[in-house]
Amino acid sequence: MYCIKKMTDDLIWVGANDRRLAMFEGVYSVPRGVSYNSYLLLDEKTVLLDTVDKAVHQRFMENVEEALGGRALDYLVVQHMEPDHSAGIREVIARYPDVKIVCNEKTLVMISQFNEMDIKPNAYIVQENDILDIGRHKLHFIMAPMVHWPEVMVTYDSTDKTLFSADAFGCFGALNGALFADEVDFEVDYMSEARRYYSNIVGKYGKQVEALLDKASGIDIQMICPLHGFVWRKNIGDFFTKYVLWSTYEPEEYGVMIAYATVYGNTENAAEILSSRLRDKGIKTQMFDVSVTPASEIISAAFKWSHLVFASTTYNAGIFVTMEALIADLTAHNIQNRTVAIIENGSWAATSGSLIRERLSKCKNMNIIEDMVSIRSGLKADQLSDIEAMADGIIASFPESAGLKKGGTASPAVSDIVDPSTMFKLSYGLFVLTAKDGAKDNGCIVNTVVQITQAPLRISAAVIKANYTCDMILKTGEFNVSILDESVPFGVFQQFGFQSGRNVDKFENCGYDVRAVNGIRYVPENTNGMISAKVIESFDYGTHMLFIADVTQALVISNERSVTYQYYFDHIKPKPQPPKEAKKGFVCKICGYVHEGETLPDDFVCPLCKHGAADFVPV
Ligand code: FEO
Repeated sequence: MYCIKKMTDDLIWVGANDRRLAMFEGVYSVPRGVSYNSYLLLDEKTVLLDTVDKAVHQRFMENVEEALGGRALDYLVVQHMEPDHSAGIREVIARYPDVKIVCNEKTLVMISQFNEMDIKPNAYIVQENDILDIGRHKLHFIMAPMVHWPEVMVTYDSTDKTLFSADAFGCFGALNGALFADEVDFEVDYMSEARRYYSNIVGKYGKQVEALLDKASGIDIQMICPLHGFVWRKNIGDFFTKYVLWSTYEPEEYGVMIAYATVYGNTENAAEILSSRLRDKGIKTQMFDVSVTPASEIISAAFKWSHLVFASTTYNAGIFVTMEALIADLTAHNIQNRTVAIIENGSWAATSGSLIRERLSKCKNMNIIEDMVSIRSGLKADQLSDIEAMADGIIASFPESAGLKKGGTASPAVSDIVDPSTMFKLSYGLFVLTAKDGAKDNGCIVNTVVQITQAPLRISAAVIKANYTCDMILKTGEFNVSILDESVPFGVFQQFGFQSGRNVDKFENCGYDVRAVNGIRYVPENTNGMISAKVIESFDYGTHMLFIADVTQALVISNERSVTYQYYFDHIKPKPQPPKEAKKGFVCKICGYVHEGETLPDDFVCPLCKHGAADFVPV
């Protein structure tokens, strides 16, 4: 029986979940399953975006048939040829022989390689920025080589502002009946799986992901539909910010990941003592025994934390086997920009430390702390100071911005300093304050609406005197408060907060026109309530007017949570991006590999796709 999810009036999820897969790509355990997403767009033409893995093919075909409702399939867009998304191509062509396969030249080659079939008669070849007009929707194709294979492209529906993002923005884990990230507690339950997916699947290709993010940052995206995991329609900026950090190999958090390889527990003991010392000093730590933890989890943690400690016993005159595999995996995934400390153990000839140092020093921008701790069989009492010194060395390498308390602070009891940032500890809501003067509607963002009394129901609102809305309220004595909820996009703050109503109509092109009983407009979207109020007193406080007003109408719009000032800063306001270095280099036209440097040798061979210098162009 089919199992589909309607996403919008004309977009349907037709994918499926697999909870029996032991190893994704034969390497990564997926104890919580995985979803294979496919999307069907119904317009004047019908368009299927990708297929699924063979494990869930039958359910997928039932889904497609049901979602089509008896219509033929006009287009199959193949964004990515990895078989977990392309296993259904042959069957789709068999069932819908007139279907056009929308793909790029590289994909066309791969379809033949995987299927031993000539699909040229069905092929509809696209290039960067080509547009497929299917009626109301216009599909724009954007090439995304090496995110995660060279043929990958993503598709942007400029009508509904939806990005079909292929492997980008994906996540391990079955969907369990939900489809949107805002239907689950993504941060708590899925972020670690999203990080594990990113770091292991595309972590190596940070440059190429950055290139895609650059392209994506230039378009208005209201929904992201990846090939694995949840669809994003709220707080897209939060997840986008994670991708910026991951693709540039910047840590998400200051803290220490400690990975240890131990045979009889003595190396583990040293690692435990270090972790304990760090915790004593207020540093977050996360520990892994590399012999029992899947490497994909440790790689994921290495992408998260700012500092990495590797503790390994010596084995066969080298690094312990599981640690050696982890180090190889980490370097293959291009880990960089980290501070590293090393503990080695060896009962007669300890070599693991110097070998780990040698291998990690090949990674970019690794600050490897000079003094390692070297143990003979087990840590001795006189070496506790070495561990203490290592903890101090790690802490010393934390930047000021890590927010660690270094040194004392003034006692609150004797300090008479007024720290303005203390005001940010107050909790505030955020509101659109609207007013009407004749034919002119206007509104502004405030965080100062407070209930004063219950009977009569009375509120106060402080407004900057320079705001046009303030003038209008002073003149008319009435206003509305639209209470913003957590779904509010940054655009609403730009609309009402970053421009003046004296110069523009802030409601132009907003797509709604609703008024309260008092005739004043309010904001019906991304809000959970609306209050109309009539001013009974006004107070001039220099920069602000404080209005005291009786409530004349109040209505609940939704049960979404009200947005707070803190939530706005944490989840809505775009984070400042690290400045981009103006790097010189050459990019491979075939796979997107970037070779940094002033020149490219004539005999250069791309380490990814093996094409020669002729296929490179300057960045
Ligand atoms: Fe899920 Fe690269 O494919």
